[in-house]
Amino acid sequence: MVTPRKLTLIGTGYVGLVSGTCFAEKGFMVTCVDLNTPKFKALKDQGIIPIHEPGLEELVKKNVAAGRLTFTTQYDEAIPDADVVFIAVGTPQDEDGSADLSHVEAAARQIAPHLKGYTLIVNKSTVPVGTGAHVEALIRAANPAAQLDVASNPEFLREGEAIEDFMQPDRIVAGVETDAARQMMAGLYKPFTDAGYPLFITNRASSELIKYAANAFLATKITFINELIALCEATGADVLAVSKGMGMDARIAPRFLNPGPGYGGSCFPKDTNALAKTARDHGLTLRLVEETIATNHAIKLAMAAKIEQAMGGSVKGKIIGVLGLAFKANTDDMRDASALTILPELMTKGATIQAFDPAAMGQAKQLMPGLTYADSVTAALKGADAVVIMTEWNEFRALNWQQLRPLMKGNMLIDLRNLVDPASAREFDYTGLGRIVQGD
Ligand code: UDX
Repeated sequence: MVTPRKLTLIGTGYVGLVSGTCFAEKGFMVTCVDLNTPKFKALKDQGIIPIHEPGLEELVKKNVAAGRLTFTTQYDEAIPDADVVFIAVGTPQDEDGSADLSHVEAAARQIAPHLKGYTLIVNKSTVPVGTGAHVEALIRAANPAAQLDVASNPEFLREGEAIEDFMQPDRIVAGVETDAARQMMAGLYKPFTDAGYPLFITNRASSELIKYAANAFLATKITFINELIALCEATGADVLAVSKGMGMDARIAPRFLNPGPGYGGSCFPKDTNALAKTARDHGLTLRLVEETIATNHAIKLAMAAKIEQAMGGSVKGKIIGVLGLAFKANTDDMRDASALTILPELMTKGATIQAFDPAAMGQAKQLMPGLTYADSVTAALKGADAVVIMTEWNEFRALNWQQLRPLMKGNMLIDLRNLVDPASAREFDYTGLGRIVQGD
């Protein structure tokens, strides 16, 4: 085991900033590198956190004050002394579904000339199988004298829970091709293995594929229960009961079996598409993954139809108050949010939408200019014919529906997250997802 001291993270988004800060919290000296953008300058010079991640601001401030966490745009400062250099830049989805590796390749090219002594380069970004080998070839070509290995170390961080997921991981996965890389990985994650968190070291390709396979499986599990919603409604079954009964089987387990308006976010959509594309690039077809992608989109459209049906078959000229826009609670992230499919569909059919979200309004305004943005729940419901719960923010769980009803014109409550107990909203004609108790 070789214990690294200095770590460098390239990229300060959801993955890079959380990972760098948590490594600093574990006692490592960490330098975070990014491009000289206004967001990064604000982080570097004023400690302004560029992402909505509960607990991150305090952790950054604490580790900057302790002198363990620094920020720079200069590779010649950040690379030479580093024992481990993580590439944690974005790998957005290209038009054909493949992962865009341009930021990863740019980082590799900027790292290469500054390498000094043995350095382990680690791909923490979600990258297609084979990228580790590609990055290694790139760096060796740019700096043949460099002593390095390239490893894979995918992240399993959920937005809004990223610090917890980093600090208490179900498992840490690493992919290596040499014993030197294995030793450095073991040293890097010693603070975690000493605390009983398992480190699974395999080869690079397996590690890269584990990330995609895990996300695609979770997306499929969610889509499985979402597809049962309509069957529950058709047969008088309660989808929450079905989910609970299924999840009590240890082989199935309860988590990620909660029905909703379809999955979104920066990972599941991108990773399922990239995995399907990787298979096709090898002349193979992952039919289950491709069906999950198609079914998830169909479910989002079906939610728009459900709202229209609940409102008597037409939303033309109707005002709909929408609670929640982010792809899930506790984040400001709108990437592939179900609202981005559902709400434009309703506006096309003549509905007027007035929406409130505790954190995602800034991003939503850029993506959906045609909405009215309300600054509170009451403002979103004022004069509305119906209210739709889109995102499971805690503040929507225990609203005083008796007080809210008089603000509205109509009494439809369409709950796309099964957040509300219908008994607490008797003034409303309640429609949930796959629930036995439906409005009259
Ligand atoms: C996911 C993976 O969970 C994480 O391990 C990976 O590193 C990144 O991608 P994230 O995208 O942040 O994390 O959100 P997650 O909590 O997984 O939710 C993804 C989507 O699934 C959201 O739209 C959420 O609303 C939906 N979801 C999740 C459900 O509809 N039902 C569930 O039971 C769980």
